[in-house]
Amino acid sequence: DTVDWDPEDAGKGEYDHYMRKEIHSQPTSLANTIEGRVTDGEIELAEFPAGTFADVDDVQFVACGTSYHAAMYGEWLLREADVRTAVHRASEYESSAGPIDERTLVVAVTQSGETADTLAAVRSANARGARTVAVTNVVGSTAARETDDALYIRAGPEIGVAATKTFSSQSVTLALLTQRIAADIPDAQPIDDLDAMLETLSDLPEQVETVVETSRAADLAERYLESRAFFFIGRGLGHAVALEGALKFKEITYEHAEGFTAGELKHGPLALVTEATPVFSVFTGGGDEAVQTNATEAQSRGAPIVTVAPEDHPAVESGDAHLSIPDTHPVWAGLLANVQLQLLSYHAANELGRPIDKPRNLAKSVTVE
Ligand code: G6P
Repeated sequence: DTVDWDPEDAGKGEYDHYMRKEIHSQPTSLANTIEGRVTDGEIELAEFPAGTFADVDDVQFVACGTSYHAAMYGEWLLREADVRTAVHRASEYESSAGPIDERTLVVAVTQSGETADTLAAVRSANARGARTVAVTNVVGSTAARETDDALYIRAGPEIGVAATKTFSSQSVTLALLTQRIAADIPDAQPIDDLDAMLETLSDLPEQVETVVETSRAADLAERYLESRAFFFIGRGLGHAVALEGALKFKEITYEHAEGFTAGELKHGPLALVTEATPVFSVFTGGGDEAVQTNATEAQSRGAPIVTVAPEDHPAVESGDAHLSIPDTHPVWAGLLANVQLQLLSYHAANELGRPIDKPRNLAKSVTVE
């Protein structure tokens, strides 16, 4: 007798899909990411003691896909800290990088550490004399080996092709790394409310737990399943979340999804907005009034508005549906909103019967340029 047994299924435990398991494991993976890296309100990265970045002039992030959205987080946080910075799609880096020298720090954000586009950017940065750091999940990966230093996100293995827990862990790691960098650069200023940001970080794993336990994303996925397209808007950090929400949605549902910076909606995408295009509006606690104005523009063209915001947020009342996130610092609010959007994509794809862990045409790690 033989039993049908796929070794790849063995690690799913009680879950139907790795993606679901990985979404639900984020309280643990985030706790691992944070462990020992904030002590008595101070950031401590064993890899980078105080002063390590004293001669850095500017910081360039390079990444692809979901990692690019995490890199946007890093760029936003460094800019807030008055550090010269830019974020590049790794596949465009060769032409987009601009001037580089030994005072340039290039941070390659790559879960696998094996993405060919990102490795090409690292090699180019190395050849041009930059200092390089890999922010990666895989110890001993090519990115970790070919950069000057590696900072591990400690999310644990991710099997689902669509990245979930690694995005959260990358973003948290980058939040800590950017403020470590800013603390070392003479003219930089760590962000205003760094203390509050670090204090609330310890609540994040539990808050993610609350989101996965109480999420109504499955109901909303069902309610809007017949839509023509799915739009995601946000500003600042919420823009990164909107892009990531849309990427996840298209990857695993095969439905048309787009993320926009909320303010850009009126400059073109609004032509696509109808009753059949729900707009998921991400409120992180930064630029929220403007997001609400933009959401209202879409709503007055008939689009259902789904607010992703704390329960008591003023935008919730005028929205058509709501995905709730616990109250926290704006930097972490975006990550909680993103968990809601991960669940939304998951449930929509599940309703549609898609092969969630292995979407067509995609690979976990793309090793060609
Ligand atoms: C592939 C995956 C994406 C991933 C991207 C970057 O395209 O399908 O989910 O975000 O590669 O991967 P990396 O390992 O560099 O983070």
